[in-house]
Amino acid sequence: MKLHQTRNNLREKTRGVMTDLLNQQLCDALDLGSQAKQAHWNVKGPNFIGLHELFDKVAEALQGFSDDIAERAVALGGTALGTIQIVAKKSRLPGYPLDLVSGQKHVMALSSALAEFGASTRDAIDLAAEAGDADTADLFTEVSRGVDKLLWLVEAHLQAKD
Ligand SMILES: [Fe+2]
Repeated sequence: MKLHQTRNNLREKTRGVMTDLLNQQLCDALDLGSQAKQAHWNVKGPNFIGLHELFDKVAEALQGFSDDIAERAVALGGTALGTIQIVAKKSRLPGYPLDLVSGQKHVMALSSALAEFGASTRDAIDLAAEAGDADTADLFTEVSRGVDKLLWLVEAHLQAKD
């Protein structure tokens, strides 16, 4: 997709590569946010209220990251590509299982998805840095730190039995 004219002095080639990278991470972030909502709606069991609220917090955080990622693509002269149709085609996350009920199962499924997105975000930091775009690398670093924290908040439910 053609880039818009901008006075931003990053090279056009770098801006193009970063737009593609940002749009891929955007798709994954939007998918992950919708997976957290799926968990928020359907979880049941003894830890219901804590998990119901935590999963909503995860979805909200992902919405914030998605917005920052999309707006960085546009700031570089690109077009943000984040419709549900595009996400369905391009997300690299495995589909969220639709038959989960218990808190433990939702915690496991959402932990895996958060970990996967965390890993690809860390790769994105390196790709942006190698391309010479320190600001996009910084954005992904912030997202990565946030996702690590969310993973902790979710995964802690699996890390002790009493
Ligand atoms: Fe809700």
